Order: sequence, then C-alpha cells, then structure tokens
Amino acid sequence: MNRIIPTAILNPDASPESLEAKQPAINNGAEIYGKSGYFSHEQVEQEWEKIWTDSWLIAGVSTDLPNVGDYFLFRVRSESLIITKTAEGIKAFYNVCPHRGARLITEERGNKKVFVCPFHSWSFHNNGELRTITDEDTFQEAVICHRPGLTAAACQEYAGLIFISMADQPPALADVIGLPEGYLENYQIDKMRVVRHVRSEWGSNWKVGVEAFYESYHLHAVHPETRGVMGDLNVQYDLYPHGASRMIVPLGQPSPRQADQTTVNEGLQWMLQESGVDPATFEGSAGDVRAAIQQAKRDRSSRLNLGYDRFADGQLSDSWATGIFPNVQIGCHPEAIFLMRFMPHETDPERFWYDTMTLLFPVNDPDYCPPAWMGLPEGTDATGAVRPETETFLLNEDPGLGLVLNQDADFLPSVQEGMRSKAFKGQLWGEQEQRLRHFHVELERRLGR
Ligand code: FES
Ligand SMILES: [Fe+2]
Repeated sequence: MNRIIPTAILNPDASPESLEAKQPAINNGAEIYGKSGYFSHEQVEQEWEKIWTDSWLIAGVSTDLPNVGDYFLFRVRSESLIITKTAEGIKAFYNVCPHRGARLITEERGNKKVFVCPFHSWSFHNNGELRTITDEDTFQEAVICHRPGLTAAACQEYAGLIFISMADQPPALADVIGLPEGYLENYQIDKMRVVRHVRSEWGSNWKVGVEAFYESYHLHAVHPETRGVMGDLNVQYDLYPHGASRMIVPLGQPSPRQADQTTVNEGLQWMLQESGVDPATFEGSAGDVRAAIQQAKRDRSSRLNLGYDRFADGQLSDSWATGIFPNVQIGCHPEAIFLMRFMPHETDPERFWYDTMTLLFPVNDPDYCPPAWMGLPEGTDATGAVRPETETFLLNEDPGLGLVLNQDADFLPSVQEGMRSKAFKGQLWGEQEQRLRHFHVELERRLGR
C-alpha cells in the first residue's frame, strides 16, 4: 500500500541540536481511543485529581506583573489563585481567606500590596503573611496562634511565562516541560506585551479544542481561505517528551492541495507587503514568496536591530505551533506569540474556555505594524503600554476572534455532538494527527491507566 506519511522535514540540513531539527520518531502505537472521556463527569473528576491539580499550568505571563504589588487572578474550574509580584519575586496564593473561606479578591487584575478580606477585613501582605485580624483580642489564642496566612501554590517563571502547580510536591518544571532548553527563550516572551486577551466559551470538551489546534489536517475543509498561503501538507510534526509537541506550518506558500502553485495570489501578495516587499515589483512566483519573506524580515531586523540572528529562516516565515501538556498551544512567531489555553469548564464536560492572549514584541518604528493575519481588531494598542481588559464571551456570543478561529468555534460543537452518537466508535487518528495521539498517551499515563 502506498501510504503518504506526512512527516515533512522543512530543513533537512538543520543540525540535530538546532530547534528546527526533525525530532526522532516516538512510537505511540495505533490504539483506537474511546469517547467516554469527552462526556463523563467521572472523567472530569479524574482529570481534576490527576491533571489539573497535579500539573504545572501556565497561569499567565511575566510582563503582566511589572511592579511589586501587581497581581492577576488565575482560575481553573472552581479554584482561583492570586498570582502576584512580591518584593521577593512572583508568587501564587489560593484566593481564599483562611478565616472562613471567603474569596479575597474578585477584581481580575490590579495592584495591591495588602489583600483585605471583604467579609471581616482580615488583611494579608502580598507575600501571603497575615497582617491583621480584626478584633484580634476576641479570639482564643489556640484558634489563631499559628498566625494563619494565605496558602501558597508552587509558582515559577520560565521563558517569560508564569507556571503554577497545585501539587503538594511538584516535579521540577524544567524536567517536565518537554521542550528543549532555549526553545521558548528564543522568542524573548519576557519582552513581549499582551495586546489582546479573549476568553470565550466553546461548546465542546476541552480536549476537542486541543485536538483541533494540534493538526493542520482540517485546514482545507474548515478553513479553505488558508489554501493560498499555508502549506498544510508540508507540515513538520515533532513529538517531545512529557506530551509536548509542535507542528511547523509553512506560511507564504500555497497548499499542495491546490493546483495553482505559481500565481502570487492575493494572500501571498498581502504577506509580501507586510514583510516589506512590494508585491507590484516582486518578480518571483508563488514558490519564491516564503524565502522572500524570510529575507525581508532579516533586512528589517538589521534596520531596526531586532536581533533576528537568533532565528532560523523558517522561524521568520512559518508558524511554530507548540504544545505543552496538558492544555497549551503557543503559536510562535518572531513578531508575536499567540498563547492559547484550553481550560476546563466549571461544571459541564461538554464546554470549555478558550483563553487566548496575543503578545507582541516591541518594535520601535513608526512604519512597522504587526502582521494583519494576527487578527488584531482595529484600534488595538500595539504598544501594549496599557494592559487591555480580558474580553469574555459566553457560548453563542460572537467572540470576534477573526474568521479562522470563529470557524473552529462554530464547528467544534458538531464534533462533540457527533461523537455522542451510537455510531461513533472511537478516534481513528492518522499520522497528520500524531500530536493528538501523543497528547492522549500522556493523558492516559497521567490518569494512571
Ligand atoms: S472570611 Fe475573611 S475575614 Fe472572615
Ligand atoms: Fe481550525
């Protein structure tokens, strides 16, 4: 049988140590995974115990906390944590008053060096220590002699991202993240600023969300507009330890599914223009566009001192969509990253929160604007000087995520519903879906199955 194994190697000359090197294959078998894990409340509880409260999770980004006292809330299901910059660095505390359990903070972000409980006004320093007990002399010594402070969760910065873990004894973060050292650091996320943050409710299990973003197999069908500009069959899929994975989707080239491989179509013209090449005078054909974009970005980097020497050519043009177990995909680009988190719903296994932040690398040039394909709405402050409010959209509200993401949001509920059918027996993943299998192997392992 003549099988097409879609394991494109985008740069066969890349040295094995380089970040773009094709990773050695991992054999994850050919098991057909069942479907109950997408619906059952039992699975929800198992995931809570073994995944959400036992993993390192990305709570946010370092540049959201520039000053001592800055904080934001990170919510996962019914837990709420305060992520705050103290004089000793960034720390995480459960957003719970030790007196009678009230939530201490309800505003999503702000600056407070002291947290005052809204119930009886006990107060706490932002390093978690108890500060005052209201009418302290009305308490028996035995009740308060341990000077109850806030309960900390493990918290660590890594490559400009803030990770937390609710595990009692979490493993060293660097040991479980799975990506090679330098992979995320390369993008200097610690210099990027959030310019948009949207949290929208989607009508499927969170894993259906992860899965849809872990493959480019559906692009031609769900997102036909991408055909002119994305090499959806020339994708390099790489699997890393601990459930991490990535796919490199070449941008600036037509899909091999499309007959016309020469015309510099409208989408390609647009991409040329944005990278600083005038499409009217561009003499190459469609197959030359990606390299022209890379060169133009190198030129821009020399002009504006952007330090793109640290990037391989492919990183300048392509999308390095990078997954970190359990619930993150980061779309990595030199200009920006898209940080997507697939958060479980509070009560319903058939819904999740798609939480997406766009972070821009600062470029100090009046002629520069971030690429339009990032889908930033008109009027977005690209400097990130003022941290935008999180926009929240409930199910059936238009999240305004742009054409492609709205297509996914509209489509996934039909997958969720179809999987429920008696007729659907389990997942038949192909090799373009190898990241899904890799994710599930890790999930099953963590669930102890
Ligand atoms: S519950 Fe916080 S002070 Fe009483
Ligand atoms: Fe999609």
